Amino acid sequence: MIVRRLQDTPADALAVQRVARAAFRDLFDVPAAEPDDERRTVQRLARTRHLVRSDPAGCWVAEQDGEAVGVAQAIRREGVWLLALYAVLPSAQGKGVGRLLLDRAGEYGRGCLRGMVCASPSPAAARRYRRAGLTLHPTMELKGRVDRSGLLDRGDIPVHPGNATHFHLLDSVDRRLRGAAHGVDHEYMLAHFDELLIADSLAGSGYCYRDGGAVKLLAATSKRIAVRLLLEALARVPDGAEARVEFLTTEQEWAVDVGLELGLTLSNRGYLALRGMRPPAPYIPSGALL
Ligand SMILES: CC(C)(COP(=O)(O)OP(=O)(O)OC[C@H]1O[C@@H](n2cnc3c(N)ncnc32)[C@H](O)[C@@H]1OP(=O)(O)O)[C@@H](O)C(=O)NCCC(=O)NCCS
Repeated sequence: MIVRRLQDTPADALAVQRVARAAFRDLFDVPAAEPDDERRTVQRLARTRHLVRSDPAGCWVAEQDGEAVGVAQAIRREGVWLLALYAVLPSAQGKGVGRLLLDRAGEYGRGCLRGMVCASPSPAAARRYRRAGLTLHPTMELKGRVDRSGLLDRGDIPVHPGNATHFHLLDSVDRRLRGAAHGVDHEYMLAHFDELLIADSLAGSGYCYRDGGAVKLLAATSKRIAVRLLLEALARVPDGAEARVEFLTTEQEWAVDVGLELGLTLSNRGYLALRGMRPPAPYIPSGALL
């Protein structure tokens, strides 16, 4: 087996997609015959290549007889190490491939005092992350149809759509909350998610991305602004779509309360794995791009 850097090519992006799809389908017990959502496939291929371009030394693939069997994509943003993707083919799991890949991805974080991973419920992943020194914060998720009767009073803080001219504001909010901006990741998120929402007033600032029913990332300088943004994002979930808010540690009870008020179902799933930092708040991570 060899472990090599991922290249910014369609072939490597497809190999990453194949490994990740098989690993997560197996984890979540999704039938192999079920087709992928085409839009999400395009998003993921674009994300893989975006990260290979931004962090070529953090992106690794393990190959056996020329076939990809495992992948890891780590990125660095202003001194924080972040793991965006980590997966091994089900047939190759439990044989140390994951450990090799995490060693390589972890080396890329050398010198970073802080680290963040949105971790799946996989016991193998939890074991690897804890053995690598990360602290596991169990997380909750909210899911379901939004009860729109709870949206009538959304408060008086103005929220408006955002664009690339707001990137400096988003970076400032993130530096205050998690000590590091998302930087170039905003270009990817703005291009691929349905919308960016901004609150910027004397009361404080914040932003949120929404993609279909998913609230992908929310950061604000106060809970009041965060609640306002989450209400607005959930109000804009298309009729008939299932709303989803994931990776909520207990620090995000403000979000749990909003979800419960709007009739969403709360359950526990996965971890926010951190090194050298507490969970940022009020903050909802995006999953892969944190
Ligand atoms: C997480 C993952 C990448 C690890 O890859 P891997 O090749 O299986 O990892 P390794 O074999 O190096 O290590 C797995 C460890 O977990 C242990 N393990 C495996 N299954 C386990 C289980 N059900 N319960 C407890 N421990 C388990 C193994 O014994 C091994 O520990 P050890 O090396 O100390 O003996 C892989 O399991 C995977 O793709 N999972 C599904 C996708 C996923 O959840 N990715 C993480 C996203 S955050």
